[in-house]
Amino acid sequence: MAKIADPWHHHDWDSKDYVADWAERQKGREPDRQEAFAALAAALPYKKEAAIKILDVGAGYGGLAMYLLARFPNASAVCQDGSEAMADLGGERMKPFAGRFGYILADFSKPGWTRKVPDRFDAAVSSIAIHNVRDTKTIQRIYADILPLLKSGGCFLNFDRMRPTLEDQLGFLERAGFERVKCFWQGETRSVIGGFKP
Ligand SMILES: C[S@@+](CC[C@H](N)C(=O)[O-])C[C@H]1O[C@@H](n2cnc3c(N)ncnc32)[C@H](O)[C@@H]1O
Repeated sequence: MAKIADPWHHHDWDSKDYVADWAERQKGREPDRQEAFAALAAALPYKKEAAIKILDVGAGYGGLAMYLLARFPNASAVCQDGSEAMADLGGERMKPFAGRFGYILADFSKPGWTRKVPDRFDAAVSSIAIHNVRDTKTIQRIYADILPLLKSGGCFLNFDRMRPTLEDQLGFLERAGFERVKCFWQGETRSVIGGFKP
């Protein structure tokens, strides 16, 4: 995966050891994000029984994907991530959902990554992943890349750090072509934002 030249970049998602360590630390933090996950799930405009197709962008070990698969028992998920180590860990952790998910390795910091995602989705979601690229122009490009992956009326919901500001991020979604853009949940440093494909 592309390394970010940034003095405060401290993640090494390509390292199996780093990923194992991160996942271990994340265990204790999972309860803190259940409220945001619940708000994101509630914003999905689908009935519980709907057989929706979900794309989890930067899915990691599948924390959000698993949350949604548990709430939508007929849904399936494609988990995209740039880290093979994360995808391997996700394959293990998501075993209770075997047959309802698959992983795609793709680096979203690179234009053209969506060529590796050969499907159209009812919902694209993401959790604490896209900010990793740091550069706001790249974040805007990723939002624009996601729009064509959605079916008409489909939604994109992103739980992430709002840099530079929440208002800027909402503007990025609008300029990417999403409509009915809004903030669905706001925490201290992170929010759930999203919009719909016309
Ligand atoms: C903080 S983890 C979050 C993982 C997961 N979404 C969650 O909430 O548990 C960030 C994830 O983003 C992925 N990631 C970071 N930069 C990426 C890139 N350029 N392309 C694809 N995935 C990337 C990492 O591999 C990692 O799995």
